[in-house]
Amino acid sequence: MGHLIAIASGKGGTGKTTTTANLSVALGRMGHEVLAIDADLTMANLSLVMGIDDAPQTIHDVLAGDSDINDAIYETRYQNVYIIPAAIDWEHVKRADPRKLPEVIKPLKHSYDFVLIDCPAGLQMDAMNAMLSGEEVILVTNPEISCITDTMKVGIVLRKAGLAMLGFVLNRYGRSENDIPPDAAEEVMEIPLLEVIPEDRKVREATLEGVPVVEYDKKSEGAKAFMRLAEEVERIAGMKARVMY
Ligand SMILES: Nc1ncnc2c1ncn2[C@@H]1O[C@H](COP(=O)(O)OP(=O)(O)O)[C@@H](O)[C@H]1O
Ligand SMILES: [Mg+2]
Repeated sequence: MGHLIAIASGKGGTGKTTTTANLSVALGRMGHEVLAIDADLTMANLSLVMGIDDAPQTIHDVLAGDSDINDAIYETRYQNVYIIPAAIDWEHVKRADPRKLPEVIKPLKHSYDFVLIDCPAGLQMDAMNAMLSGEEVILVTNPEISCITDTMKVGIVLRKAGLAMLGFVLNRYGRSENDIPPDAAEEVMEIPLLEVIPEDRKVREATLEGVPVVEYDKKSEGAKAFMRLAEEVERIAGMKARVMY
């Protein structure tokens, strides 16, 4: 039985899509079958970050009732990694019903070791439906107080809704000397800190190239941090499997 993990946060631009892409490629390389889903229906860009464009069937077609979910799953160039891309044009966005996200995503847990759901930020309807398609959640925050408090709010709501909180990623650390340090962030968040990902221009460069940094530059600090994050996620998932199944 696989893991359905929502990648969520309170604000946009924290690194949810970057985390989804890199964690997918890293877990795939570690031998797990991974499905990454672009569930950010209005600001979709996971496909671009993973170097896929012009997919004929997307999550939007599935949510509009025009496609079967299995026809919207594509192999990527990364070992063991599959993706459900999203459309980017407004016509598709208008026709897609976000309320169907949980019912189309949840059954996929039987076919993969990890299903990673790239969610919109915040607590609006689109975001809630994407996040509630997961059973577990990883929060992504930046080391700024407003970002941390907004992300905490999302965490509190998701926990009330019954999702298991795996912990949070502190991304883009080191950009400013006013950054909240990791131990303080962990104290405020009151959930485990899974990994600190440094601010690294290689990450942005990789995004522009359409290749996740764990593939683009394996020796970069960003790539090493994302690999450690994958090891931590694998470790927690394994522990949970022993307790629950
Ligand atoms: N650790 C990092 N170092 C440098 N740039 C980063 C880092 N993480 C993310 N970025 C950049 O920040 C931007 C927003 O990231 P993204 O993953 O799209 O955020 P979100 O999905 O939360 O809106 C992208 O251009 C990405 O390359
Ligand atoms: Mg995103």
